[in-house]
Amino acid sequence: MSFPEKKTSILISAEQLEQRVKALGCAISNDFKDKSLTVVCLLKGSAIFTADLVRAINIPLILDFMAISSYIGNDMVKIVKDLDTEIAGREVLIVEDIIDTGLTLNYLMKMLRARHPSGVHLCTLLDRPARRIIEIPIKYCGFEIPDVYVVGYGLDDQQYYRNLPFIGVLNPLT
Ligand code: IMP
Ligand code: MG
Repeated sequence: MSFPEKKTSILISAEQLEQRVKALGCAISNDFKDKSLTVVCLLKGSAIFTADLVRAINIPLILDFMAISSYIGNDMVKIVKDLDTEIAGREVLIVEDIIDTGLTLNYLMKMLRARHPSGVHLCTLLDRPARRIIEIPIKYCGFEIPDVYVVGYGLDDQQYYRNLPFIGVLNPLT
């Protein structure tokens, strides 16, 4: 079967995602009440998660987008698309699809802190601690997952599968 038609098995269902995202939105709304909140969506992987998450948050916020190249070897993380808004004095909540080694996010958090926000916080849909190289503080986490490669709900395999409404694992035999 050709690549984009590989079968997937469901690891986290659409219903589980919906429930958890609502709970995260509730917690974020409480924690950042009366604060100036900027939600930073990291493209492309967290686009779908962010779209659902911000609609589960019921306090005023600025939504901004950033695209970075992943951390490779000794290279620094490159900004492909920067924020359009100032974050100085604001509470920044970075929304990520999955924390794997932690290297990309560790670098990005340092870079954003240099712009003098009041705080930089991290919300990740998925946490895969098995492959962590650098410990980073995760304030909000959707689900901890085992050491498997996952697709769907924004996450890709060679740019495909982002549109799956669930988190799935690619079946090796299909
Ligand atoms: P790291 O934490 O610096 O290793 O980078 C994690 C990034 O790699 C994530 O933001 C994803 O874009 C990508 N990634 C890691 N694991 C997966 C996966 O299982 N499926 C899809 N993308 C992944
Ligand atoms: Mg990513």
